[in-house]
Amino acid sequence: MKDLKKIAVLTSGGDSPGMNAAIRAVVKTALHHKLDVDGIYKGYNGMINDIIKPLDRHIADNIISLGGTILKSARCKEFRTPEGRKKAYENIKKHNIDALVVIGGDGTFAGGNIFMKEFDFPVIGLPGTIDNDLYGTDYTIGYDTAVNTVVTAIDKLRDTATSHDRLFIVEVMGRDAGFIALRSGIASGAKKILIPETKTHIEELLERLQKGISENEASAIVIVSEGDDFGGAMEVKKIVGEHFPDYSTRVTILGHIQRGGSPSSYDRILASGLGYQAVLGLLDGKKGVMVGSVNREIVFTPFEKTIKHHSKINVELKHIAEILSG
Ligand code: F6P
Repeated sequence: MKDLKKIAVLTSGGDSPGMNAAIRAVVKTALHHKLDVDGIYKGYNGMINDIIKPLDRHIADNIISLGGTILKSARCKEFRTPEGRKKAYENIKKHNIDALVVIGGDGTFAGGNIFMKEFDFPVIGLPGTIDNDLYGTDYTIGYDTAVNTVVTAIDKLRDTATSHDRLFIVEVMGRDAGFIALRSGIASGAKKILIPETKTHIEELLERLQKGISENEASAIVIVSEGDDFGGAMEVKKIVGEHFPDYSTRVTILGHIQRGGSPSSYDRILASGLGYQAVLGLLDGKKGVMVGSVNREIVFTPFEKTIKHHSKINVELKHIAEILSG
């Protein structure tokens, strides 16, 4: 982009491990190219309420290993209104910002897309969400760490499940997406994985448990994605209890621990590469796109596509999970 002098960066929506590594990459790449960088705090709220501060190179010191986001994050209702976006644009102009890097999920890109169109303003996106549900990238920043967190937790649950001959039903995050459930389920050897992308036939779970009981498999792990069509872990526990009243069953809802923690090396490297490419993309005049990595190639996908489509579950992985749990 011609005349690019100052960019700004924000994180929005649910935070994810690796967002700080992405911020660091954006700041360092921008400074390398002699661009000024502002940080916008609390997502789009910071644009509306003028929580905007210059970031110097020291802001990026020692944040590559930190979970969360130093810029803080939020979901912002006001940015969905034309009045909110107008206030945001006035602040952006006041700070002489020429382009924006937004790090988040599809809601973040939907906001960025409207803003870009309304004010003809360059916005580029980085995929930051633990859910891995964004079209246009094989992996989102934070997903790998979240899966590792779940696997570590399930390994611990398995110890106590084995000691007590118990069934553990573990609920993982993913409102509309089963990526965390599927990958962590394979990595932890779960007996069954229930995900929102495929219809759950609860009788199949009951049959699988019955088989386990008949074969003297005294303990088991079942993973349920929070968005599964049958319901969450509590609903699954209820029906299991009705069919197998003597089977000692416990529920663990992993919740927000999946969103925290130091990012894995995979997430740090992904975030560093994509953050670097976002700044190069802006310099090159790109806008209205999310920077992703597909088959190890950098790909720029229009916001419209990332908003409209979801990344598809790998059906083969689901099949592998079924076979290996047998
Ligand atoms: O989108 C990320 C995510 O962690 C989902 O997996 C989860 O359903 C949601 O955010 C939780 O949102 P909140 O932090 O607002 O409760």
